[in-house]
Amino acid sequence: MIFRQLFEPVSCTYSYLIASRRGGEAMILDPVLEKVDRYLQLMRELDLRLVKAVDTHLHADHITGLGALRDRTHCITVMGEQSGVDVVSMRVADGDRLQIEGVSMDVIYTPGHTDDSYSFHMQDRVFTGDTLMIRGTGRTDFQNGDPRAQYESLFGRLLRLPDETLVYPAHDYKGDTVSTIGEEKAFNPRLQVKSADEYAALMNSLNLPNPKMMDVAVPANMRQGLHQAEVARRGWAFSARNAQELVGRPDVALIDLRETCERERHGVIPGSLHAPYPDLQASIGGGLLHELAGTGKRLLFYCAFGERSAMAVQAAQDAGITTARHIEGGMAAWKKAGGTTR
Ligand SMILES: [Fe+2]
Repeated sequence: MIFRQLFEPVSCTYSYLIASRRGGEAMILDPVLEKVDRYLQLMRELDLRLVKAVDTHLHADHITGLGALRDRTHCITVMGEQSGVDVVSMRVADGDRLQIEGVSMDVIYTPGHTDDSYSFHMQDRVFTGDTLMIRGTGRTDFQNGDPRAQYESLFGRLLRLPDETLVYPAHDYKGDTVSTIGEEKAFNPRLQVKSADEYAALMNSLNLPNPKMMDVAVPANMRQGLHQAEVARRGWAFSARNAQELVGRPDVALIDLRETCERERHGVIPGSLHAPYPDLQASIGGGLLHELAGTGKRLLFYCAFGERSAMAVQAAQDAGITTARHIEGGMAAWKKAGGTTR
């Protein structure tokens, strides 16, 4: 396995680059905008292809690298289903698996620091975001934070992992890099409480100043989506309502870009073909999509929210498939417009 812990010193953020092999797919957790060049250089050096960029939660102390990484690598951007962030092209929920080639993580919903906080558990280690930190826990006094929810996330979920599980947080302000569940149970001062009430009283007495970057970072992190507006401006988008008239027409090939787990959970538009987004370039270059376009079919892409499909339209147009379009807003908009699914 390739595993790199990367540090951004202004916000003391740790980002994690993970891949199963050189030359394979990679994912990055909690990337920071200012470090995007560094991540891309490292991935070039290790011959990795970024397919997923994940934020554990909406950050208040730095601007996320998700939007820049999406623009420069066309990767899938991932957050939890509670997230209102517009850049997100795939949303995960508790119990899901977050996968790339050779790597699979269990998705654990761990609210409390924010209401969109997630942890990711993989083999011998867990990425805890700002839920569990080394000898600390993430503050719960803004961004819909809730100390009682965090108590449950800690004691009901994370601390039930085996004691030897390695703990990799999203931040450390003292220079520690890794801990274990057993070590945190024994020595983390925030965890030496007997009840949720006691934990809430402790967290509510902290009186911390707001992060310096908060007024900049939160609005910036909420709005990173650009592709859909640009694709619509070029006339390459159909509203979900208009798309309903195209479905079933013999000259239209409806293409679902989502992953199998998303299709199973949210259903599919009847009659659509499946071409997962990570394999898009190969499919356009000489696979299914290339063949469909060659037979004169008009390609109509869709995904969960329209982010991946907007990038797919751009990629297809770049490859000379001028009839490529997408459904703006994706499956979410389709369902809202009363479109049928199965
Ligand atoms: Fe945070």
